[in-house]
Amino acid sequence: MKALILAGGKGTRLRPITFTRAKQLVPVANKPILFYGIESIRDAGITDIGIIVGDTADEVMDACGDGSRWGVSLTYIPQEAPLGLAHAVKIAEDFMAGDSFVMYLGDNLIKDGIVRFVDEFESGTANAQILLARVPNASQFGVAELGTDGSVKCLVEKPEEPRSDLALVGVYLFDDSVFEAVGAIEPSARGELEITDAIQWLVDNGKRVDPHIIEGWWKDTGKLDDMLEANRIILDTLSPEISGDVDAESEIHGRVSIGQGTSVRKSVIRGPSVIGERCEIVDTYIGPYTSVGDCCEVTGSELEHAILMREARVLNVGRRIADSLIGCNVTVRRTDGVLSAIRVMLGDNSEVELA
Ligand code: G1P
Repeated sequence: MKALILAGGKGTRLRPITFTRAKQLVPVANKPILFYGIESIRDAGITDIGIIVGDTADEVMDACGDGSRWGVSLTYIPQEAPLGLAHAVKIAEDFMAGDSFVMYLGDNLIKDGIVRFVDEFESGTANAQILLARVPNASQFGVAELGTDGSVKCLVEKPEEPRSDLALVGVYLFDDSVFEAVGAIEPSARGELEITDAIQWLVDNGKRVDPHIIEGWWKDTGKLDDMLEANRIILDTLSPEISGDVDAESEIHGRVSIGQGTSVRKSVIRGPSVIGERCEIVDTYIGPYTSVGDCCEVTGSELEHAILMREARVLNVGRRIADSLIGCNVTVRRTDGVLSAIRVMLGDNSEVELA
């Protein structure tokens, strides 16, 4: 069994962050989303992983390397344009060399991992297995309709009027019959080869596609609120560890992790939250569900339910920044004047002055 991770795409729903960064590398609890996927695949006993890369190939390759740090082998497969998930499968055919595989969308997070699904597929005789989750906003996903016997009846990509609340989760298991399917389908109205159509082709052509409704937490981290929710879910599982320096005037409450070389002075940090390495936290309140990346500086400010990427600076803002994602090397600083509420989503290298 092999794996195929999709780490191309433009991440339009996370702009401006994704103007300068692969969406799969945006950190959740200070770790790129993509790394959680690689770890889930490794934990399911799969070590041979192909990664589909697009415009952000260099960045993804720099971040993941050859995979040895996870004890897996990574092979990068360039996709010349984002032509669809089924197109990605098509160009991975040589890499798969007839093996079954799990396809994992690099922006998906599945809290309980995929061990169970991989085991089930490997020990069964299905040609494909899809994971489904009940969602309130099904029209934003691929949607499955099941028959009364629980088998897959039909699948539609982002239907305006969904026939069920069962969304396709971005983890699929296939045997090599999927290559015939991706070769047979035509591009959709949006010009992409849809994996949803390829799976429908399998159903229509007498292949066995087993649906599996998952109960645990799952997220497609396409948007800011999804990122913050993912951050919350992961921070809830955080093991506290204080490696940095915390002065006597500071208070740490609950599950907090503070990285090496970080200095916390005259501040209150309430977990669950994580502070990276080599940060300066001074005169600041950091509230629950906050992740502060490496080399950040936060002084005279309040942060809560937020993600700060590395080298961000929040200086003397004097009021709370909440529900926010702040990119690398961003500066948010206070100038003179009275502030009203702020909510920000800032790209790398942005600078904001609040008057
Ligand atoms: C893709 C698939 C969709 C699936 C979703 C899960 O959509 O096309 O069927 O439900 O991933 O994350 P995308 O997020 O690429 O628009």
